[in-house]
Amino acid sequence: MSSAEKSPDQPQVDVPSDTMVGFIGAGKMAHAMAKGFILSGAVKASNIIASCPHPNESSVKDLGVSVIPDNKEVVRRSSVVVIAVKPNIVPIILKELSSIITQKNMLISIAAGIPLKTIENYLPSGSRVLRVAVNTAASVQAGVTVVAKGTATLDTDSRLVVNLMKSVGICEEGPEKYLDAVGAVSGCGVAYAFMAIEAMADGGVKMGLSRDLAIRFAAQALMGAGKMVLETGKHPGQLKDEVCSPGGTTIAAVHKLEKAGFRGALIDAVEAATLRSHELAKQ
Ligand SMILES: NC(=O)c1ccc[n+]([C@@H]2O[C@H](COP(=O)([O-])OP(=O)(O)OC[C@H]3O[C@@H](n4cnc5c(N)ncnc54)[C@H](OP(=O)(O)O)[C@@H]3O)[C@@H](O)[C@H]2O)c1
Repeated sequence: MSSAEKSPDQPQVDVPSDTMVGFIGAGKMAHAMAKGFILSGAVKASNIIASCPHPNESSVKDLGVSVIPDNKEVVRRSSVVVIAVKPNIVPIILKELSSIITQKNMLISIAAGIPLKTIENYLPSGSRVLRVAVNTAASVQAGVTVVAKGTATLDTDSRLVVNLMKSVGICEEGPEKYLDAVGAVSGCGVAYAFMAIEAMADGGVKMGLSRDLAIRFAAQALMGAGKMVLETGKHPGQLKDEVCSPGGTTIAAVHKLEKAGFRGALIDAVEAATLRSHELAKQ
C-alpha cells in the first residue's frame, strides 16, 4: 500500500481523469506535488510517473508512483510534464527533450528563476509552456501556487494547471514578473516559518516546556495565525494589536522582537531570495 492515500476531506477539483502527469526529476518537489495530487484525489498514483538518474533512491516511488531512469519515456507517457530538477540542470533536460516534446505535451517548469522565454527558446515553436511558483506545503494540501502562461499556452492549459494546483492549496494565475517575489514569500517562506517554529520551541524549552509540546504548540500557533489572516480577512497588524493587551505579556514580547529587527530581517530575507532568483535567471 502506498503511503499517500486519497483524503476524504478534500473538495473535488476539476481535473480530467485521463490526465497523465510526468515529473522530470523525482526529488523533494516532485514528491510534495505528487503526494498532494494523490491525497486530494486529483490524480491517481497510477497516472503519475517520474524520472531521475537514481530511481531506487527516490522517495517518490513510496507514493506508489513508478520512477524510471528514462526522461524521454516520461514525456512520451504524459500529457502534463513537470520539470522538477534543480535550475542548473534545466537546460540539459530541455536539450534532451526538445526533439520529442509535441503539441500533446503541456510543459510546466517549477524551477526557480528560469524565465519562460529561456525555456521556450530550447523547444519547438508553439510548445505549450507554463511557469509555476509552488512550495513544499503542497504535500499537505496547504501549498501556494502562482501560474504564469507562456506565449503558446492555451486558456484550457492554464485552467487545467490552476485546477490541478488548487487540489494542493491556493492557486492563482498571474504575470511572470511576480514569480520571483512569490517564490521568495511563499516558496522560501516555509523555511522562515520552520525557523520561527524551532526558535519559539527553543524559547518554550528554555522556560521549562518539553521539546515535543513546545514544537507542537509553536507550529499550531503559526498555523492558527495563518488561518486567522486568511479566514477573517483582517489585516495582520490589526490581529496583532488585538492580542496585545495594555501592559500585557504580548506587547512586552513584541517590543523585544522590534528591538531585534524581526520585521526588517524578514523583509531582507524576501528581498535576498528575490534577488537570488534574478541572479539565477542571468546564469
Ligand atoms: N525545494 C523547494 O522548496 C522548492 C520550492 C519551489 C520550487 N523549487 C524548484 O523545484 C526544483 C526541484 O527542486 P527540489 O528541491 O525538488 O530538488 P531535489 O530534491 O534535489 O530533486 C532534484 C531531482 O532531479 C533529479 N535529477 C538530477 N539530474 C537529472 C537529470 N539529468 N534528469 C532527470 N532528473 C534529474 C535528481 O535525481 P537524483 O537525486 O537521482 O540525482 C532529483 O530527483 C528546483 O528547480 C527548485 O528551484 C523548489
